[in-house]
Amino acid sequence: MITKGMQRQFHRDGFLVVPNALGQKDVGILRREADNLINYLISSDINIMTDYGGIIEPITCGYIDPPMSQMFIMSKKSYSHVRHQVTEGGDTVIDILFEIVPEMASTFLPQESEDEPICLFNEQYIVKTPDSASTSSFEWHQDAQYMDTGAQGKFPVVSCWIALDNVNLANGTLLVEPFPRPKDARTGGHVDPPALFQDRDVYLQYHRNLASHYVNPPANKMTAIMKAQNRPPLLPPPAPTAMSVAMDSLPTNPKEWVCESQAPVLVEVPAGSIVFLSGWVRHCSLGNSSSKFRRAFMPQYSAGKVVTETGGLVSLAVPCNEHDHEREKGDDQYREDEDLLDDDFGRAEELDFGEDIEMDD
Ligand SMILES: [Fe+2]
Repeated sequence: MITKGMQRQFHRDGFLVVPNALGQKDVGILRREADNLINYLISSDINIMTDYGGIIEPITCGYIDPPMSQMFIMSKKSYSHVRHQVTEGGDTVIDILFEIVPEMASTFLPQESEDEPICLFNEQYIVKTPDSASTSSFEWHQDAQYMDTGAQGKFPVVSCWIALDNVNLANGTLLVEPFPRPKDARTGGHVDPPALFQDRDVYLQYHRNLASHYVNPPANKMTAIMKAQNRPPLLPPPAPTAMSVAMDSLPTNPKEWVCESQAPVLVEVPAGSIVFLSGWVRHCSLGNSSSKFRRAFMPQYSAGKVVTETGGLVSLAVPCNEHDHEREKGDDQYREDEDLLDDDFGRAEELDFGEDIEMDD
């Protein structure tokens, strides 16, 4: 479903919108789960906007009892077991979380290896309650800036923002500012990226360098909206470019890159569409001035486990392609995993990964 051209587009713009990426059945599963959690919070006298900032984390929002062990944050089998308690009836989000969405998201990350598997890094519902325009908008940000400072900028993470309602200007959709576009200093022609960055460091450098050329966004969001409404359609996917050609056309010092700013893009798409966002692409969201809830679901995937400078996990690190991983692991590996958790998370009741990685859209 994701073509090489779409991959190049993602690295060029820092994001990619895939309309109708999820089928009706999967959208229905996520909607039902979102509604269960929303109803639970409302019945518990929790104000979703003022108390939770519109962010609902399925496992830690209080809907289920805190898991007894923390091993679930790094094991697909354990995570699935815990996660099943959130989903009602015969529904399961496991296929969506570990197969359907990461199959697409992984095409925008460096190729996974045994040491650096594609991992579920975080998941949350992002809800804007009806008529909440004054409290439900979010300012311009890059998702990578929410990461633990020790891990910031060191791990490729892709956010998969899934619209569960048709989203538009009125109900609080996203505004995304594409990466500034670099030019070849000699020819003046645009330089486009390859489809895949095999090397994680080159990937990180490319995304970070482009983002370093952002100029300040308009102070008034209305200005940004007008720019978005008057911009030409997004460019089609760039033509194939060899990695060597792309990188050799740009000065070694990224400060010397000559980049062209792009007008923001207003995301107006039907339910089931996914916006894939680089950790470095700048975006904000608008308030919900409609009379209905606006629901989105956003899992995030990392290339490898995201760890701090001392080696502790920053958030979830659930390998998506774990095949009986636990059974294959020896006792020594288990002990190492337990140590990793003891160092950074303490007891189960202290588990609160929301503070470190809370995103807002
Ligand atoms: Fe965000």
